[in-house]
Amino acid sequence: MCGIIGYIGPRLAVPILLEGLKAQEYRGYDSAGVAVLENDEIRLIRSQGKIAMLEERIGGEIGSATIGIGHTRWATHGRPSDINSHPHLDCKNEIAMVHNGIIENFVELREWLTERGHVFASQTDTEVLPHLMEHYYHGDLVEAMTQTVERLHGSYATVALCKHEPRKLVAARRDNPLIIGLGEGEYFFASDMAALIQYTRDVLILQNGDIALITEEGVTLYNDGKQIEREVHHIDWDRTAAQKGGYEHFMLKEINEQPWALGQTLKGRISGDASAVDLKELDFSPEYLKSIQKIAIVACGTAYHAGLVGKNIMEKMLRLPVEVDVASEFQTRDPLVDRHTLSIIISQSGETLDTLIALRECRKRGSKIVAICNVVDSTIAREADYVLYTWAGPEIAVASTKAYITQLMVIYMLTFYLAQHMGKADHAELRSLISQLYRVPEAAQLAIDMNDARAQELSQRMKDQSSAFFIGRGMDHCVALEGALKLKEISYIHAEAYAAGELKHGTIALIEKDVVVLALTTQSALQAKMISNIQELQSRDAFVIGVTMEGNEAVSKVCDTTLFLPQIDERLAPILSVIPMQLFAYYCAVVKDCNVDQPRNLAKSVTVL
Ligand code: M6R
Repeated sequence: MCGIIGYIGPRLAVPILLEGLKAQEYRGYDSAGVAVLENDEIRLIRSQGKIAMLEERIGGEIGSATIGIGHTRWATHGRPSDINSHPHLDCKNEIAMVHNGIIENFVELREWLTERGHVFASQTDTEVLPHLMEHYYHGDLVEAMTQTVERLHGSYATVALCKHEPRKLVAARRDNPLIIGLGEGEYFFASDMAALIQYTRDVLILQNGDIALITEEGVTLYNDGKQIEREVHHIDWDRTAAQKGGYEHFMLKEINEQPWALGQTLKGRISGDASAVDLKELDFSPEYLKSIQKIAIVACGTAYHAGLVGKNIMEKMLRLPVEVDVASEFQTRDPLVDRHTLSIIISQSGETLDTLIALRECRKRGSKIVAICNVVDSTIAREADYVLYTWAGPEIAVASTKAYITQLMVIYMLTFYLAQHMGKADHAELRSLISQLYRVPEAAQLAIDMNDARAQELSQRMKDQSSAFFIGRGMDHCVALEGALKLKEISYIHAEAYAAGELKHGTIALIEKDVVVLALTTQSALQAKMISNIQELQSRDAFVIGVTMEGNEAVSKVCDTTLFLPQIDERLAPILSVIPMQLFAYYCAVVKDCNVDQPRNLAKSVTVL
């Protein structure tokens, strides 16, 4: 994923481009660049590294430009370097372009262009774009862009600046986000609203196949060769939501926002007497509900882990088979999905390309699709039949926290909703579960308060450790997977999650004195077996950190130390037990002086295959 910004208007472009890039730095941060038009020439400045390095390189240069484009990169084709940074230029330095996505046929295009005399400077797929534009440009930017994108296979959001049409920007989109901010006599392009909220809240969201031309006079949109109109969206975000709000890192802010976010997810979705879940977004007919024979959940990373909890709770309550796949594998296995399958697609960003492709695969096979997304109007949200938003507010840290916890909340609500409407609910049981759901935001706050200092203290022990294990059974195993992912991605400590009963089939060979194991034990029916597993670890001198409900002495007495959770119906425990995992990972990363919000090699959402 990369971040794109563009500006045309009366103000100085460079400060706006830099601010826009900083707001989108979470999308990619291995290199950045800007191109502006100044004194009838394209001025290009690029730098490997963070945006701060680009800013330093720009210094006082480029004083007067009022039109320009910028890019923050997460490398796919060509390693991070100055030369591979965007914007890229054509042979004559007359057209500059930025791009988010992947041009799958760039090798053929490069050969084709090389045969026609074009010379390439970088190893990127993107560089074919300005050369194609150069080839097709005969005085009409929209026409050149139309012919250029016709040649492309793959995904793109791209913006071009051309020295011959100095008061115009032209853009195109397929499968990667691009929005246009509408100001007073000024216009912006960005990949994400976060880059624009300080200038405008009115935006046009480009759709697949759209080509946009912007000048100071306005925006003209085209699709399939015809001029079209698109609805203006008014974005209602609080600007401070996208800032750190006094926390040292976005991740810590987002962990602490979880009680609030869970409240937002619940809001308006429970009936007044707390006896039923009311998801107005869904309008399944009784016939359709009767026809469902299977549920397929598809997602990536943390969202996949939320899906695993979904399988546990849905199978238990709905007595239907539930399959969960990582989206990249789903495509490879000719999945058994048909019109009797309800597909649930989970994605915080709503832009993860593997997940989007899985959604389309489900649709092709006749399945109805419910998306669980955080980003409003994202591609997945738009392409699904139904969307259940998590309403967690912008998640900026690369490591997902509040998105995961609110995905779980939606999954529980959806399960209860289906149980009600499919006649699978025991009403008394459902009422009790729903009243417990109401308690979850408050319990999440308690879980933070009970574990923040303890997690910080335990992180000291991890300073010099090279690995950690997370074990659990049933739903606890799903949360163990998420705990291990959090630790790996931000602290770079090797972490493995195991179904506790599986340890003795190989992995226990890795357990030796002082190896840290987090043992999640929240399910009473599985507790005796977990205690045996913990004892097996203890006899090999591991350091076992138990995670269990407050007051559970049977577990705490076999562990070296214990992280406690407030009491809740144990079927809802994953929503709370992930909190100490998040805090533990966070403090381990801090203690190791890692870049918590922007871990190496990662981007917030992966819009490439
Ligand atoms: O935006 P998505 O939910 O589709 O993203 C899926 C994964 O890329 C994401 O959850 C990733 O695993 C996070 N970095 C985990 O913290």
